[in-house]
Amino acid sequence: MTIRAVIFDLDGVLTSTDRFHTEAWQATCENWGIPFSVSSSDKLRGVSRKESALIILREAGLSLSEEEFERFSDEKNRLFVTLLDSMGEGNVLPGVKALLRELKPRYRLAVASSSRNAVKILKRTGLMPFFEVIVDGTMIRCSKPDPEVFQKAADALGIPYDECLVVEDSIAGVSAAFKLGCPVAGVGSASVASGVTYSLAETKELGDIL
Ligand code: BG6
Ligand code: MG
Repeated sequence: MTIRAVIFDLDGVLTSTDRFHTEAWQATCENWGIPFSVSSSDKLRGVSRKESALIILREAGLSLSEEEFERFSDEKNRLFVTLLDSMGEGNVLPGVKALLRELKPRYRLAVASSSRNAVKILKRTGLMPFFEVIVDGTMIRCSKPDPEVFQKAADALGIPYDECLVVEDSIAGVSAAFKLGCPVAGVGSASVASGVTYSLAETKELGDIL
């Protein structure tokens, strides 16, 4: 297998912002009196804000009017963005900066995230300069498990899909990458997803492989 590019997911792979998503949903649900279990928050990894809201409501057996649904999702995003305001370089996951420094001269690097806040996160954490291509939630029509975000990143790099290693912490993202024929490094809860090329407890372990 030849790997010429590495396409990273963002939340939970490069930065610890995955827990801000959970915290923001938890607080929003508390406000709305909607049950939310942190233990099922893995299901929200990688999927869009709208799809996350739908999953939460489905699990609670509830439905909201269109207008309420908008308010519910907007409230979560406002809380999430407030949490981002306190964020900085300290929110880069351990060993990730050293890994990116090591990989940059040898591989083409991209970020492919479902988040519409990805650029803000990359700027605040100082990770922006490592990446040649960034595809985020504002640039796609279908979110993971649809492969669109990875396809756009690989196409922008001009590298064949089977030569792009995708690094993902979500099951939705792993499925998306498989659909495209990319090798996958599953991180954390996605490390046990069946068929992953590499299983990593933490992103920094990629340095031992590449
Ligand atoms: C993904 C997260 O990166 O972005 C999901 O893993 C989140 O949990 C999604 O729902 C969308 O994020 P945002 O910032 O556009 O609400
Ligand atoms: Mg993620």
